[in-house]
Amino acid sequence: MDHFQYIDGQLHCEDVPMTRLAEAFGTPLYVYSNRTLTDHYVRIDKAFAPLNAEVCFSIKSCQNLSILRLLKGCGAAFDVVSGGEISRALEVGADPNRIVFAGVGKSDEEIRFALESGVGWFNVESEAELDNIATIASGLNKTARCALRVNPDVDPHTHVYTTTGKRETKFGVDLERARRVFRDCSSRRGLDLCGIHLHIGSPVNTIEPYVQSITKGIALIEALRREGFSITAINLGGGYGAHYDGDEAPSAAAYAERIIPLLSERDLDVLIEPGRSIAANAGALLMKTHYTKSSGEKQFIIVDAAITDMLRPALYGSFHFAWPVAPHGGLVPAVRTADTRLEGTALADIVGPVCESGDFLAKDRYLPPIRRGDLIALFSAGAYGFVMSSQYNSRPRAAEVLVSGSDMTLIRRRETYADLVAAERL
Ligand SMILES: Cc1ncc(COP(=O)(O)O)c(C=O)c1O
Repeated sequence: MDHFQYIDGQLHCEDVPMTRLAEAFGTPLYVYSNRTLTDHYVRIDKAFAPLNAEVCFSIKSCQNLSILRLLKGCGAAFDVVSGGEISRALEVGADPNRIVFAGVGKSDEEIRFALESGVGWFNVESEAELDNIATIASGLNKTARCALRVNPDVDPHTHVYTTTGKRETKFGVDLERARRVFRDCSSRRGLDLCGIHLHIGSPVNTIEPYVQSITKGIALIEALRREGFSITAINLGGGYGAHYDGDEAPSAAAYAERIIPLLSERDLDVLIEPGRSIAANAGALLMKTHYTKSSGEKQFIIVDAAITDMLRPALYGSFHFAWPVAPHGGLVPAVRTADTRLEGTALADIVGPVCESGDFLAKDRYLPPIRRGDLIALFSAGAYGFVMSSQYNSRPRAAEVLVSGSDMTLIRRRETYADLVAAERL
């Protein structure tokens, strides 16, 4: 599942002890495993190979240039949601024609930048946006290849904040309206409206919601084709699960096994936009214990990482397994789950130094004894981790390091106090 493993009671990333990484680069530190990123990319690419699917890594999940370059080297295309992400993809030499550009609120500047850069696909969310893209594209004498994002009204059974495929969310156009959009917009100058885009939420740990949404998407495509529209592509979006709490996510092969029969021999180019399923298990957040204290029955472990480094627990109530890097008494869990309760552990919260009660990384966990200076790893932190970090409380952002076998490479230096004020004027 990943290449973060305990060897002789010490957590390693691939062949490097995490203690060595902390000594070399300090904490808090994002640590990524090259092998895990590569394995996960290859698994999804292979699983969907019978559809010859274009695997567009979703940059929003993990945006570091070195990681994008690594995935590009594996053959990845890219899914972007802003001009900044287009720029990152171009920076690592991505083929612009293999970039898909999504997002409900693309600005005129971003649309122009995408068109001038030769971005391959626009995933479009409304008639108003199509109209704007058509105007800008024809002004530039260009044609924007577009997929209409359809909202299939399917429940992905995930957190309400990461549910996107239900009718009441802001995403896409509902199925009835979609046909009208094709009728009204597809002959517009500057547009080649020839695809359907679906993305129902994240993480989607059951396969049935994909089956439902793709089935509805195909019915729409068939209806559109009957009306004479040429539909050449379907983009299935992302949302495939990762392992946070044991092994709750279906494998790439299991998703593909159900999805492939729905799409084979339909004369459609297939695109997918995985982010989390590639990056989440490939990263851990390494942090150091500042202090410990008790309040009633509760112990608090106060670490140097905070909500500013990892927002997910506060934002979505997300679970990340946390455990000392070199546990006293050699207590190492066989599996990393919310139910882990080994003998010799005690109930504790792992919290950060920020002035918010929402500033926690792990709540109500049975942990081995932890002392000042001990290192703790927060697992499955590679997706939607560093990318959501902030400088709140004037905290410089963490460093990022990529481990490949026994090599460790700093891929983003730790920010300094000077970085905090670099864009400001006195
Ligand atoms: C349109 C779209 N595609 C792909 C993704 C990536 O999702 P995940 O990282 O869960 O695979 C997202 C995530 O929000 C998205 O909104």
